[in-house]
Amino acid sequence: MTFVSGPVTVRVPASSANLGPGFDTLGLALSLYDEITAEVTEDSENDGEQGLAFSIEGEGSDNIPRDRTHLVVSSMNRAFDVLGESPRGLRMHFRNVIPHGRGLGSSAAAIVGGLVAARALVEGGEAKLDDDALLALANEIEGHPDNVAAALLGGLTIAWTALGIGKAVRLDVLADVSVFIPPVSVSTHTARGVLPAKVSHADAAANAGRAALLVAALVGGRADVLFAATEDRLHQDYRAPEMPESHEFMSSLRADGIPAIISGAGPAVLAFASGSDLSAHTPAGWAYRELGVDSEGATLIS
Ligand code: HSE
Repeated sequence: MTFVSGPVTVRVPASSANLGPGFDTLGLALSLYDEITAEVTEDSENDGEQGLAFSIEGEGSDNIPRDRTHLVVSSMNRAFDVLGESPRGLRMHFRNVIPHGRGLGSSAAAIVGGLVAARALVEGGEAKLDDDALLALANEIEGHPDNVAAALLGGLTIAWTALGIGKAVRLDVLADVSVFIPPVSVSTHTARGVLPAKVSHADAAANAGRAALLVAALVGGRADVLFAATEDRLHQDYRAPEMPESHEFMSSLRADGIPAIISGAGPAVLAFASGSDLSAHTPAGWAYRELGVDSEGATLIS
């Protein structure tokens, strides 16, 4: 038999990329999860097209396309192509919790969740598409490896590309993390479009040093250097016009000595801190959440 019988469910974490200095490299998996349930069916549509049945609850359930352009479905089909399989139909249920367009890795979760679900639906799928190959495929789809690495592997991830192939190492960390989520979204495409093609050697050197320091701070428990380790000169200031309130809020937290950064391409703000003194800073209309670091990454839960 080509496909397993019955549905599979994948739980996949949110993630925060960059973490300040580690642009397109560092990722942190967060304890906020989407769930993807998928089952292969024999229901092709009349014209021979793949038959798709969806139900979506939570984030985006009103405005997400329910067709093959859905990021989970297109990612599943990329995995099926690699695995040499072509299901006639798919029945899916998505429980979306990760906010969309906020820099918390919702698209990475969709891509990784779709790839892992498709792999699990194919008999012997893991032998044909191991985690390294799956990460490379996820990076191809997303275009940069930081969020997809964290969503797949959990923990703190250091990702890079070599000859276009996405790779990552995963490290265990314990950290207090809070996120402040504004009511507005900013597309990653827009946020990447405002970045300069060239940066100064001094800025590049500063970020390289801070990114290395941040790994030491998080993995080595050096909270005393977290503030310095979360400084960035390569993306946050350039993106400020696209997310002025977020940039101003992050700057105000930093002025109070709190290690705060723009989460991924924004506009959510992440702080390596928690507690009522911190939550009291939440701007009106924003949501505040205290989260842990997810240590497992994408997981098959049934
Ligand atoms: N590293 C990426 C960026 C993360 O900042 O554009 C967003 O997906």
